This record gives sequence, C-alpha cells and structure tokens, in this order.
Amino acid sequence: MRYTTIKKRYSAALKGKYAMGAFNFCDSDIAMAIFNAARKLKAPIIMETSSGEMHHLHPQVARGIADGLNRIENNIFILHLDHGKTLENVKEAIKAGYDSVHFDGSALPYRQNLDLTRKAALLAHKHGLWIEGELGHVGGSSTLHKDTSYSSLEIIKTDPQQARDFVQKTGIDSLASNIGNVHGIWKGLPDIDFRLLAEIRKHIHIPLVLHGGSGIAPFQIRKAISLGISKINVNSEMRVAFSTALKKSLAKKDTFVPTEYLPEAISAVQKVVDGKIRLFKSANRL
Ligand code: G3H
Ligand code: ZN
Repeated sequence: MRYTTIKKRYSAALKGKYAMGAFNFCDSDIAMAIFNAARKLKAPIIMETSSGEMHHLHPQVARGIADGLNRIENNIFILHLDHGKTLENVKEAIKAGYDSVHFDGSALPYRQNLDLTRKAALLAHKHGLWIEGELGHVGGSSTLHKDTSYSSLEIIKTDPQQARDFVQKTGIDSLASNIGNVHGIWKGLPDIDFRLLAEIRKHIHIPLVLHGGSGIAPFQIRKAISLGISKINVNSEMRVAFSTALKKSLAKKDTFVPTEYLPEAISAVQKVVDGKIRLFKSANRL
C-alpha cells in the first residue's frame, strides 16, 4: 500500500475517533483469520509480523501471504514489520516489499535510539514505507502470564518533552509510547496513565500507537482512543485463543488431518479480531 494511502488511513482514524487494529500473524491460518474478520466488518487494519518470528515466517513468505489475500480483496490491510530491532530487520522488510515498519530502539539509551531510529526512518522513507518509532519501553512478552500481576513489572514511561525532540529529530511518522501498557496478559489490569497520554498528545502531532493491546479493559481502550490513539497492537489474546482452541480440538477429534482440527483454532482467532475491531470502532470504515 502506498505511503499516501497509509497517511490518509491514520488521519481518518484520528479524525473519526477510532483506532486501526494491528494484528500479529506467524502463519497463513492466523493471517486468514485476521483477514476474514476485517473483510466481514469492512475494517481498515494492519497485519504485522514480528522481527522475533522472522525465523518462523520469512518476510518474503509473509509478503506472499499478503499478496494472496490482496487478490481475494484489495486494500484492506497495511503489511507492517512489528518491533524491528536492527537496521538489518528494516532492510529485510523493505526488500520483501512491506508497506510499513516499526523500528524499536526503546531498550537502548536515548541517544542511540534516536540515532538508529533516524537512520531507519531515512531508509524507510527512501523506499516509500511508513515508519513507527518507539520511546518509553513497552516490556513484557506476548503470552498469558497467569501468576504475575501488572504491578510487579518495571515500566519505563514516555517523557512528553523527550518525545517531541525524538519525533523532530528522527522524522518518524508515528510513535509508540508507553503510558503504562505492557505486552502480554497479566493478573489484574494495567494502570494506563491517561494524563500522560493527554500530555504526550499536546507535545507531538503525529499518530500515536498503543502496544500491548491484550488485557487492557474496554473502558481503558475507549478512553485511549478518545485521547488520540490511532493504532492498537494485539497479539497475546489471539495466541491464547488459537492455542486453547487447537488443544481442545486435538483432544476431541481422533484425527491426523490438519484441515479437520485447524478450523476451530482459526475461528477462535477470528472471533478475537472481530471483537477488537468493534471495540476500536473501526468497522465500516473502508
Ligand atoms: O507488538 C505487538 C503488541 O504490542 C502485542 O501486545 O501481546 O499484549 O497484545 P499483546
Ligand atoms: Zn508491541
């Protein structure tokens, strides 16, 4: 998808007070589930693959899956690299023909993050891709953490003034900030800092992204969108849905045929994506 179309999608989300869901996939079954939900609801979405799973799903294969889905129906999704950690990751996504990349230098000291993100932005823009940067580290990992609560996690929130400096000097198109959000589902609820979000919004004027979309309560999501979040990343809830349904299906059916036990897992993911699209108010926006 062209850079100008992506820009229009983010502007429309901000103006229309909804958020685009960004959903992770690591194979064609999960990709199909996401696509089916978005297609049914006529929702603009982002389909993303994480750099941590490049060993499992090569970016060229992800692009191939995306091209296949585009042949069924064009223009539903943006293909995005999630949490690119190195310039090499960004180059691989560019080479494969992704539409958009996330460069995540948030675990690095500020100067290093700034320097590498600026280089990533130059690369991305040279090839017509959208780029998201990250400041304030979103920790945790995308799975179900049954026994640990959100409050036990170390959270590095975004400093609004530093965010302004970061955006100006890197030239990024959107910013993933940390306002108390964490990757994964933990016990209890995350403490989302809405005052901080409003403060960040005052300081910067590019689209804002919320990572760690799983496990955040609907009232928190609605409030975050009303304060200017335009993209929300979701992974863990889909992983849990897929794995739980697959385990059940395998236990129930005495079969060795994947097409007999996979459909329930695919439907379970589709249901999660469907619910998120409705919650993010992005249905019927295409
Ligand atoms: O980048 C991916 C997301 O931030 C996913 O977060 O696993 O908490 O939904 P989640
Ligand atoms: Zn994330």
